[in-house]
Amino acid sequence: MSELLRIEALCKTYEDGQDVIQVLKEVSFSVMQGESLAIVGESGSGKSTLLHIMGTLDYPTSGRIFFQNENVAQFSGKQKAYLRNQHMGFIYQFHHLLSEFDAQENVAMPAWIAGRARAEALKDAQALLKKVGLGHRMKHRPSELSGGERQRVAIARALINQPRLVLADEPTGNLDAQSGRAVYELMCQLTQETGTSFVVVTHDQNLAHQLDRKLMMYDGQLKGA
Ligand SMILES: Nc1ncnc2c1ncn2[C@@H]1O[C@H](COP(=O)(O)OP(=O)(O)OP(=O)(O)O)[C@@H](O)[C@H]1O
Ligand SMILES: [Mg+2]
Repeated sequence: MSELLRIEALCKTYEDGQDVIQVLKEVSFSVMQGESLAIVGESGSGKSTLLHIMGTLDYPTSGRIFFQNENVAQFSGKQKAYLRNQHMGFIYQFHHLLSEFDAQENVAMPAWIAGRARAEALKDAQALLKKVGLGHRMKHRPSELSGGERQRVAIARALINQPRLVLADEPTGNLDAQSGRAVYELMCQLTQETGTSFVVVTHDQNLAHQLDRKLMMYDGQLKGA
């Protein structure tokens, strides 16, 4: 397996008046192509901060990030936006679907942003929705879907541009155990089928065990890396 993303000595510090809060302390690890990786740890330990920095949505205070051996710090804002749109998929805890669009339009959105033709992107969105078991809910708006169905729409949306890397923050946080397991099984299946790498932040140790590798975030440091 070749290396997809490498994090070197990443630090993130917030200054709050006299106080300096060290949220990430020299975090280093790699994500290989086609690997699924869980990050578990207590609330406030720095997991979301790390995920945001990995996804170029936030800056580190120091340290380096390489995506396919390219130093992301040297990218302009435009290059980072392109990297995110083309090569990364994001799944947030609370899905962030657009309420005025139906399921297939929500899934197609990143492809439209990438400049793909409307009909072509919708066709791919429909195929992905079928894959996540929502072929019968294509035209439902988020308010007309259950929590688990919304989360599956968010997964399909994260995959529409065939990203190399999917970053997921508590993707099963608001689901019951059975739907949560189904979401994980789907991610594992997609990892095998498409070679996409997954990095999943979760509080759920049982679900974390289903992935290839588990890292523990403890007070801004990563164990098991
Ligand atoms: N803008 C900010 N300014 C100051 N401190 C911040 C800021 N953003 C986050 N923090 C602090 O950084 C720490 C880590 O936050 P983070 O959101 O990464 O935690 P987490 O591990 O994702 O927690 P949870 O499991 O609750 O989502 C927290 O203690 C938080 O208060
Ligand atoms: Mg968090």
